[in-house]
Amino acid sequence: MKIRKYSIKELLEKGIFFLKKNVIVEGWIRSFRNSIFISLNDGSTIKNIQIVLLKKLEKETIQKITIGTSVKILGVVKKSLGKQQSIELELLDINIYGEVDLKEFQKTILQPKKHSLEKLRSQAHLRLRTNLFSSIMRIRHHISFSIHKYFHKNGFFYVHTPIITTLNAEGAGKMFQVTTKNKKKNLNEKDFFKCKTYLSVSGQLEAEMASLALGKVYTFGPVFRAENSNTSRHLSEFWMIEPEMAFYHLEENMNLAENFLKFIIQYTIENCIEDLLFLNDHIKKWNQKEETTLLKKLENILKYPFIRISYTEVINILEKSINKKKVNFIHPVNWGLDLQSEHELFLIKKYFKFPIIIFDYPSSIKAFYMRINDDGKTVRAMDILFPEIGEIIGGSQREERYDLLLKRIKNINIDHNELWWYLDSRRFGSVPHSGFGLGMDRLVQFITGMKNIRDVIPFPRTPNHAEF
Ligand code: 4AD
Ligand code: MG
Repeated sequence: MKIRKYSIKELLEKGIFFLKKNVIVEGWIRSFRNSIFISLNDGSTIKNIQIVLLKKLEKETIQKITIGTSVKILGVVKKSLGKQQSIELELLDINIYGEVDLKEFQKTILQPKKHSLEKLRSQAHLRLRTNLFSSIMRIRHHISFSIHKYFHKNGFFYVHTPIITTLNAEGAGKMFQVTTKNKKKNLNEKDFFKCKTYLSVSGQLEAEMASLALGKVYTFGPVFRAENSNTSRHLSEFWMIEPEMAFYHLEENMNLAENFLKFIIQYTIENCIEDLLFLNDHIKKWNQKEETTLLKKLENILKYPFIRISYTEVINILEKSINKKKVNFIHPVNWGLDLQSEHELFLIKKYFKFPIIIFDYPSSIKAFYMRINDDGKTVRAMDILFPEIGEIIGGSQREERYDLLLKRIKNINIDHNELWWYLDSRRFGSVPHSGFGLGMDRLVQFITGMKNIRDVIPFPRTPNHAEF
């Protein structure tokens, strides 16, 4: 009879039904204690399976059993006497796939001791093997899956918007140019596309076109920003989820965004509890000052409606807090100026202590495509700010009126000819519509409790860093 191969996750979950059966598992050795107990991990779960070596092995094989070695194990399932696990494998046969270079191993982060996150980043190719990073990556997967699940369940279609574009969808900010020419000969007419092209900063404009045909759509892909922002919340290449809905007004957009975030968090709690508990303990160990546990923080988000407040009210709150000497800011607070992260952090950390949705921002600080309000000064924008993270979602109701959109584009000196197709959509059955962008990496940061965005994506891209 053919012996079946199991993932460690499957075996630990169902193994009690397989008692006395022979099974195969494959993975990397995490520890080898007293020349008897091997801990094996295959990435399918945070948990290791214990393999007990009762059989005498050749000295040559024993020497190869070290941390990091990859192996295939044939074993028989036994009830475990240890408290950690319900079952274990008694080894029948071992096959070594890849040995470990013991001299070089000393320099790697695979060595079982405490390493700083900076050190782990410098070995991004190996850090995925650690408990911390494999946990984060499994959670990241479940978050992605829950996003598709939510939209599918709610009648949205997934559209693939282009990565190479000719436009700056946000109307501002630096982009990465895409060219096949070297600098000297960089004549646009001779370049691959016969025009200047860039890596997209957002799929929104194309998603709008799709929503004006399909109703409710979303994109989920990488976007690129060449800003020199060296912070714990910025990547040069990050993943964004952008739903776009025909016939949605701002209010409905906000309702969707809130419901969507809560769904993802709920789904993650239900499906990633082992990894979340691991991260919970990890954070406690590293930062004893942390006030609340990761799980409590997540559950708390689900309890109440997010606070909704206009930009103008926010400015009032900030001004009052300054006047009452409750806070000091470096950047000025004035109606018309953009909110800086110190202002946002004050609002969510000190003032509200809960997610807030700020809406109706001054038009001068927001993108050209947002719908202008009757006051002529503000636009139907909304940002969602999360504790620890700051802005996690940015969205708006879009300007669907051709004349007003054209005026706005001209006012801020964008070449309207380049946007001809976008403007065109406002001439043939234009409808009120809305959408938003959720920063995937910031969301993973919030859910995993990681302080730096570079630690929630396998291979981060930031200014001066494109290795791996
Ligand atoms: O606010 P942003 O720039 O909005 C847009 O791009 C719109 N086109 C979205 C839309 O309405 N369809 O970006 C949206 C979100 C931010 O709220 C933030 O979470 C994230 O993307 N984000 C970043 N995440 C990581 N690194 C960066 N450099 C980011 N810039 C924005
Ligand atoms: Mg924004």
